[in-house]
Amino acid sequence: MWRYRNPVDVKFGAGAFDSIGQVLAGRSYCLVTYDDANGGSTFADLTRRLTALAGEPVALVRNIGPNPDFIGLTESCRLYAAAKKPIETIVALGGGSVIDAAKVLAAALGDFSRVRTFLETGKGGEALGTTPIIAIPTTSGTGSEVTSWATVWDTEAKKKYSLARPSLYPEVALVDPLLTVGLPRGITISTGLDALSHALESIWNVNANPVSTALAERAAREVLEALPALADNLRDTELRSRLSRASLFAGLAFSNTKTSLAHSLSYHLTLHHGVPHGIACSFSLPMVMRAVAGCDPACDAALKNIFGPNLQAGAARLEATLEKLGVSTHATDHGIAARDWTALVDHALAGERGRNFIGRREALLAAMAA
Ligand SMILES: NC(=O)c1ccc[n+]([C@@H]2O[C@H](COP(=O)([O-])OP(=O)(O)OC[C@H]3O[C@@H](n4cnc5c(N)ncnc54)[C@H](O)[C@@H]3O)[C@@H](O)[C@H]2O)c1
Ligand SMILES: [Fe+2]
Repeated sequence: MWRYRNPVDVKFGAGAFDSIGQVLAGRSYCLVTYDDANGGSTFADLTRRLTALAGEPVALVRNIGPNPDFIGLTESCRLYAAAKKPIETIVALGGGSVIDAAKVLAAALGDFSRVRTFLETGKGGEALGTTPIIAIPTTSGTGSEVTSWATVWDTEAKKKYSLARPSLYPEVALVDPLLTVGLPRGITISTGLDALSHALESIWNVNANPVSTALAERAAREVLEALPALADNLRDTELRSRLSRASLFAGLAFSNTKTSLAHSLSYHLTLHHGVPHGIACSFSLPMVMRAVAGCDPACDAALKNIFGPNLQAGAARLEATLEKLGVSTHATDHGIAARDWTALVDHALAGERGRNFIGRREALLAAMAA
């Protein structure tokens, strides 16, 4: 027996953003977005478009940096609490960091210590809020618009937490590929590879089911075809649309399975070596694929639908694709000393996400040596 469930109302397509006024339907909202700190006016312009469509927000939270952490989120909650009127909804306009921060705000209700206590002790879940979220992704990678969890980083203690609650599924996801057209090349590649990682990680996963796997196969094929082309044609709207759809499908797949070993490995690289999430969770995919090939008939069948009948040759092609996109598949190039690599893999296998991996440790060690 298997089960698949995802309650998010998804609207996809060029111009989906313009339906925000109808979606809000007069409800007051807190806007969560970035502050254009790196120059440019992308998010100030989008905020102007949004307010023209939906009216002024009652609170504005714009202090979102990459990988939301305890310090930044404490300030975000303070900004939320300073709302001029009661907040009925949260509009998250940005990438995974913005959508995840919005999920924390929905649960924290203006007091970050509520969420912090829950993350650190597992207690106090009943005190968490359930403010509805409308997610409008501006990257195509994390799938956070259709998942019920947020990654929260404690950068001081070098820890990664996952805030997971069924109420954190956004009410609506407006996935408008046109919002991603201005993404720079590096972020386009790292976020696209995050989507590829979600797709593959939901396949070699103890929680895989026929629906998640079908979505994942489609997503992985789409990223592998479209991302190399997009990296050379960043403003191609057809390719942007394919990447947005792939990211959404991968999100729908791993919303039911969670991730697995490659993500478990990634947290150390991001916390200790500052490697961006999408690179940290994708550089090891060829190694993980070599190790898992032959472990499970359903997994093999899905991987063959993506990579063709010879999975070892497929892993080599995946490696070549990553290298061509400028992503080294060697841990040593991401700050890991060769002597630490086995211990890191063991640690990742034992982690919450690592335990979702269907492959065997011995096969991994063999793949690492290859
Ligand atoms: N909740 C989940 O299911 C889930 C899944 C995967 C990753 N994550 C988390 O998401 C975070 C990463 O999110 P991300 O990869 O989307 O990146 P991000 O949200 O951190 O954004 C990265 C950079 O891209 C810029 N940017 C975003 N959209 C842009 C646009 N349209 N044009 C120009 N610049 C733009 C931002 O200003 C920022 O500087 C990490 O914290 C990761 O752990 C969450
Ligand atoms: Fe990810």
